[in-house]
Amino acid sequence: MRGTSSFLIVANRLPVDRVGEKQWRRSPGGLVTAIAPVMQRRDGAWLGWHGAAGEELKPFDHDGMHLIPVPLSQLEVEFYYEGFSNATLWPLYHDVVATPVYSRVLWDAYKAVNDRFARAAADAAAPGAVVWIQDYQLQLVPAMLRKLRPDLKIGFFLHIPFPPAELFWQLPWRKEILEGLLGADLVGFQRPGGASNFVRLARRVLNLPASRNEIQVDDRIVRAEAYPISVDFGSLDQLVREPHIMTRAKEIRAELGNPDHVLLGVDRLDYTKGIGQRLKAYGELLAEGRIEPGEAVFVQIATPTRERVEEYIRLRNDIELQVGRLNGEYGLFGWSPINYMHQSYNREELAALYCAADVMVVTPLRDGMNLVAKEYVACRHDLRGALVLSEFAGAADELKHAYMVNPYDIDGMKRAMMTAMHEPPHELGRRMRSLRRRVATHDVDRWASDFLKDLEA
Ligand code: ADP
Ligand code: F6P
Repeated sequence: MRGTSSFLIVANRLPVDRVGEKQWRRSPGGLVTAIAPVMQRRDGAWLGWHGAAGEELKPFDHDGMHLIPVPLSQLEVEFYYEGFSNATLWPLYHDVVATPVYSRVLWDAYKAVNDRFARAAADAAAPGAVVWIQDYQLQLVPAMLRKLRPDLKIGFFLHIPFPPAELFWQLPWRKEILEGLLGADLVGFQRPGGASNFVRLARRVLNLPASRNEIQVDDRIVRAEAYPISVDFGSLDQLVREPHIMTRAKEIRAELGNPDHVLLGVDRLDYTKGIGQRLKAYGELLAEGRIEPGEAVFVQIATPTRERVEEYIRLRNDIELQVGRLNGEYGLFGWSPINYMHQSYNREELAALYCAADVMVVTPLRDGMNLVAKEYVACRHDLRGALVLSEFAGAADELKHAYMVNPYDIDGMKRAMMTAMHEPPHELGRRMRSLRRRVATHDVDRWASDFLKDLEA
């Protein structure tokens, strides 16, 4: 039996969050915003896990999107999601900044869940449909799906970095992962380096004939290309022009005691984000008196994430200890040098925070793209504000007028923060204008349409 969806997104998560027992709310984020209109135009569906373990739900419609929940048992959440996806692949693909766990039990769960996603996609897709599979949790799905449904056009996009051969080589299941991805017609990466790592590995591990960006698999050609993801520039730009956002931004600054400089970090509390390194640099500036008492506040928003994975538990303890120490050592009555929040915020509050921040500090040790950097740029139509950006974020390829840093170089980060804090307005404006031009012309809509155009070509 064939399904009826002529356009299908397959992702680990559905694009909705639960509110209360039975209600759903569209998840924030560019991917949903970019894809929702395509789904509406093409009779599309989105297939993914709804976020609760051990619960089976029937397909449902929400906000013009047809959603097909894929169930995961408690053990699968532990072994496939927290385990193979986030304790094996995540650290391996991010330069092994934490040690990957290699376990056959986790691998078996990953295979089983990928197989379930592939079968559900095969059931939902109409003849000749376009199926777009997202991210590292589902790398086996392209080949599994092709086996079940050779009539489909299959695309895959990896949102995180694809590692160099020297690192990928560690993976005991390197051959299976590559074969899984090669089930797609088009494999998309954030950066050209990811695409060339993939082509090189297909050549070396599987002995496949390949040119710069094409790999021959039996009688098919699989293409590997870079498509840097982006944000919904237009809607953020519009949002921050609303007076209540500016009022809220002023309020935030007042609540922080109206310091001369507000520095901001917004990240999932992940060890790839370099939060500890940036706080160390800021702490040294306080210790050396280069930032005087009361002069600056560093707001660090650390979104809760993957809270049962060991490395994340350790990271949270380390960061909270570091924040506590710095505030204890340098704080005054009525002034804490760091404002740390382990919470989620809605889009409007985040936009107001971006507008309130003089210096946005984005210092990942490795990051596929980093949308926060692009969101900050999209929110600064006033041409004020400085972006300090790690060379190791995918966004560094495009945001060349940011204050670039190597997050492993603490002195370099201190210099960049100080420069950004004291830069004259005309230089801030010059840089921000150029950053905005790039993000405005390369928004998330362009990302999705470039990928789909190439997939269907
Ligand atoms: P990653 O995909 O690794 O989390 P990105 O920077 O690419 O990193 O994307 C993070 C997304 O999550 C951004 O769209 C950002 O606005 C959002 N986000 C980050 N922190 C919060 C928070 N505390 N509350 C709500 N959204 C957040
Ligand atoms: O961008 C990487 C990514 O893992 C996405 O696949 C995911 O939507 C996001 O980060 C948040 O992670 P999680 O789904 O594990 O909370």
